[in-house]
Amino acid sequence: MIPDQVPKEDVFHGSDDLKKEAHISSFEKYKELYTKSVVNPDDFWGDIAKDFFWKTKHKGQFLQYNFDVTRGKIFIKCMEGASTNICYNLLDRNVHERNLGDKVAFYWEGNEPGDELKVTYRELLHRVCQFANVLKSQGVKKGDRVSIYMPMVVELVVAMLACARIGAVHSIVFAGFSAESLCERIMDSQCSLLITADGFYRGDKLISLKLLADEALQKCREKGFPVEKCIVLKHLSKETEDTPLGSQSPPAKRSCPDLQQEKQTGRIKKTHPVPQVPWNPEVDLCWHALLRGASNDCDPVWCESEDPLFILYTSGSTGKPKGVLHTISGYMLYTAATFKFVFDYQPDDIYWCTADIGWITGHSYITYGPLAYGATSVLFEGLPTYPDVSRMWEIVDKYHVTKFYTAPTAIRLLMKYGSEPVQKYKRDSLKILGTVGEPINPEAWHWYYSVVGEKRCPIVDTFWQTENGGHMLTPLPAATPMKPGSATFPFFGVVPAILNESGEELEGPSEGYLVFKQAWPGMMRTVYGNYSRFETTYFKKFPGYYVTGDGCRRDKDGYYWITGRIDDMLNVSGHLLSTAEVESALVEHEAIAEAAVVGRPHPVKGESLYCFVTLRDGATYNQTLEAELKKQVREKIGAIATPDYIQNAPGLPKTRSGKIMRRVLRKIACNERDLGDTSTLADSSVVEQLFQNRCFTTV
Ligand code: WTA
Repeated sequence: MIPDQVPKEDVFHGSDDLKKEAHISSFEKYKELYTKSVVNPDDFWGDIAKDFFWKTKHKGQFLQYNFDVTRGKIFIKCMEGASTNICYNLLDRNVHERNLGDKVAFYWEGNEPGDELKVTYRELLHRVCQFANVLKSQGVKKGDRVSIYMPMVVELVVAMLACARIGAVHSIVFAGFSAESLCERIMDSQCSLLITADGFYRGDKLISLKLLADEALQKCREKGFPVEKCIVLKHLSKETEDTPLGSQSPPAKRSCPDLQQEKQTGRIKKTHPVPQVPWNPEVDLCWHALLRGASNDCDPVWCESEDPLFILYTSGSTGKPKGVLHTISGYMLYTAATFKFVFDYQPDDIYWCTADIGWITGHSYITYGPLAYGATSVLFEGLPTYPDVSRMWEIVDKYHVTKFYTAPTAIRLLMKYGSEPVQKYKRDSLKILGTVGEPINPEAWHWYYSVVGEKRCPIVDTFWQTENGGHMLTPLPAATPMKPGSATFPFFGVVPAILNESGEELEGPSEGYLVFKQAWPGMMRTVYGNYSRFETTYFKKFPGYYVTGDGCRRDKDGYYWITGRIDDMLNVSGHLLSTAEVESALVEHEAIAEAAVVGRPHPVKGESLYCFVTLRDGATYNQTLEAELKKQVREKIGAIATPDYIQNAPGLPKTRSGKIMRRVLRKIACNERDLGDTSTLADSSVVEQLFQNRCFTTV
């Protein structure tokens, strides 16, 4: 399946210097290890598992699974019978067994240049233990779900690892989501506690997170699901400022030196106003006040391999987000192994992944993967364009970043400003560049490669999904000849196939549904609270395969090229959105009878949202309505789902059975007249009308 020969022309190679130190230094070595990993996964993953601590050993086969619904229940199990603690492996093991206590785990770089913090592995361990004790004192136990709604601060990592330490399950909600979305997720995962912050800045814009959290908790209350406790980090306001503390904790000596220092200096420059934080003493608890009484000693809770680690919501085609559940051992091995091989991790690396921890990329490649091997990372709170469009490269030089991982949408955004803002900085520390989240167009690839990496750094274009836990198709930087725009070949243990509509595997150059044939350790185990949705979404269409929902082409050289989603999902700036979710937000407006949303290509965001709305009788279409609809979607889902175009559509193209023909709507949105077969269309006059009234400007 992996070709014997890779092409010699029109491909890009990692440098010889890189090959010298690389874990996998040639395509032959990749192929050799790949073959071992799929023929004998137990040996391959068993070797990775030796890098970690197991309280008790696993019994029987390393990886067990069933992908075939016709043969029974779908399941995946990794290292059954083993017990461990992932927080112990990430922190205690690195501090106590590998002597990395003084090594920096994170350089935190705030939104405002000059706001910075440094946290070593030892300090991180102390903070996590303290906070784990806080969680325990608030009654959080193994298996309980804890919702986290925080900006990109070290405390977010502390909160997630503290949960992991005591066996609680974190459910992080991206801080760009609305109160409504937070409420929906808290209720779906039945969280008993929420952790949030006063607020944060994205560039110049203040996000008053606590207000949103309060609104979400109010909604939960109204829906009969009261959350009793909310821990609030004072991120913008200094912790020394007076806070109504609710139930007071005794002032005790603080044991974490780093926090002491932080307290004196204050970590946020007061160049911006600080938000007013309403305080409800019945529910709200101050993060720092709780820590004051907490010891930094906390035994890890030993968990079974298949105990849940976290829930992370991802869009689903029905509109209701799916709570993707990952379990401990398999996820740990998979994020660790992909981190090590795909970024060719070396101990002196300074690694920077620009994703937000609220998405899977941040979970796997800011927290779990890098910490598993004791890496030093940059944790960045801000934006690539603030205070100016050189910010990324300024940070690269400041910390001497060696491995840099970002999204195509960020590259396309920066590309618009030309090479000068990049070339103001040296970037000579960079060795490997990466992308994730959506297909990278060759033009952006070449710019990233030539301007940012000065043709010195290979680009790992990593294809994967929230459901996968870690990289699935990706080059290995010193081994795989790269083709711009292709995610190239499978990672170890991953067996892709391309199927046609009837579920037959296609050989050689072909295009169709991308599926995976074999389980890998980092795979999701279920949709939280909805096993049948898990089975239906990923396994029903083609029994025996995990269906990604992405289209894929394999070229004559065996390279894989992702062609985009083939379900009703959109990818806006690297974030998956379900059209159904946006549609249901639109039709909740009293003036709207029906809505259909499609993607329209966008030069920076990848896709933009083009919405067709049919009004109820008596309603009038005007700018006020447009503004209300935009607001409605932002409030229901969040700013990432804001419609770019809204078109008044008195009728929608439907089949005779009443199904909206989105394919036709996509053509209308792009003004492409070649509609293909429209014989199933019930009323073709609707289409011409829609073409004539197309929207040319964004709303
Ligand atoms: C898309 C993000 C092309 C794809 C880690 C997938 C990509 C969805 C790539 C998952 C890539 C991600 N090339 N497409 N390198 N990486 N995708 O769950 O459509 O937020 O199904 O996980 O992003 O998005 P998710």
